[in-house]
Amino acid sequence: MNLTAYNQVSVPNLMYGTAWKKASTRELVQLAVASGFRAIDTANQLIHYEEALVGEALQALEQQGVRRESLFLQTKFTSVDGQDQRTPYDPVADLTTQVRQSFASSLTHLGTAYMDSYVLHAPFQRRGLGQSDWEVWAAMEELYKSGKTKMIGISNVAAGQLAELCEKARHKPMVVQNRCFAALGWDKQVRDICQAHGIIYQGFSLLTANREVLVDPEIRAIARRLGAGIAQVIFRFAMQIGMLPLTGTTSAQHMKEDLQAEQFTLSIEEIQRIESIAL
Ligand SMILES: NC(=O)c1ccc[n+]([C@@H]2O[C@H](COP(=O)([O-])OP(=O)(O)OC[C@H]3O[C@@H](n4cnc5c(N)ncnc54)[C@H](OP(=O)(O)O)[C@@H]3O)[C@@H](O)[C@H]2O)c1
Repeated sequence: MNLTAYNQVSVPNLMYGTAWKKASTRELVQLAVASGFRAIDTANQLIHYEEALVGEALQALEQQGVRRESLFLQTKFTSVDGQDQRTPYDPVADLTTQVRQSFASSLTHLGTAYMDSYVLHAPFQRRGLGQSDWEVWAAMEELYKSGKTKMIGISNVAAGQLAELCEKARHKPMVVQNRCFAALGWDKQVRDICQAHGIIYQGFSLLTANREVLVDPEIRAIARRLGAGIAQVIFRFAMQIGMLPLTGTTSAQHMKEDLQAEQFTLSIEEIQRIESIAL
């Protein structure tokens, strides 16, 4: 199944994340696509991602007949604060130039002429949006308007920042990517804004940020009822509330299980229970 944003662009409802894979990135991306994933998330940020190795995997896949157009590719612009000395753009250039250079470098790394989604890795400040955020967003809007990316988005964004962006931007984001804490109602405030604006909410760290939830007896009982794994319950819950979950699994078996989550159906009561489980 796909999710569709307000600009009518669709995204597969489960995404494979490539953070922290280091030298295994190439092999794991190939395995993920061979397993059935069609959406891949990366970033032009060598501290956590190997974007060029994602590109090598895509090249190998293309040779096996996997066409670029059959995949949804998402990468990010990471500001100097989130980079080490290996900045993929001129770190002293103005921000507009940094975004253009980072984007061009991403296209080269990934061996593609366009992105499906281009995401601002994080606002420059914790509260509100500042001049730097608006400058970067304007540069991203230019990429969107030129057709070089089909969507633009923002990550690690607070509800107030997202509301401000939706209100004041010429093009509001089509995707949001946030760490999803059960204790915050699975990022309910941000999800509600996304829903109101037709923005696709992508949740990461669903498993790793919510370890206490995974051992909850009620979750275990739901898993038993469905004959599913705990991860499958959480991913299916996410899908059923309209969220696009990311998984960064390194295991072929878990890839298969995560992709099969869609085959289960939680009842409305089970969804409501999980949604409020840590509140
Ligand atoms: N925008 C941002 O700032 C940001 C930050 C963090 C992450 N992300 C994105 O989100 C992606 C995912 O990150 P994440 O933090 O959600 O995941 P993650 O760190 O890759 O962790 C997933 C964990 O869940 C386990 N797992 C997955 N499927 C499982 C299953 N079926 N059964 C049991 N365990 C399972 C994995 O173990 P195994 O490897 O053993 O399966 C792994 O320990 C990243 O790769 C990145 O693309 C973005």
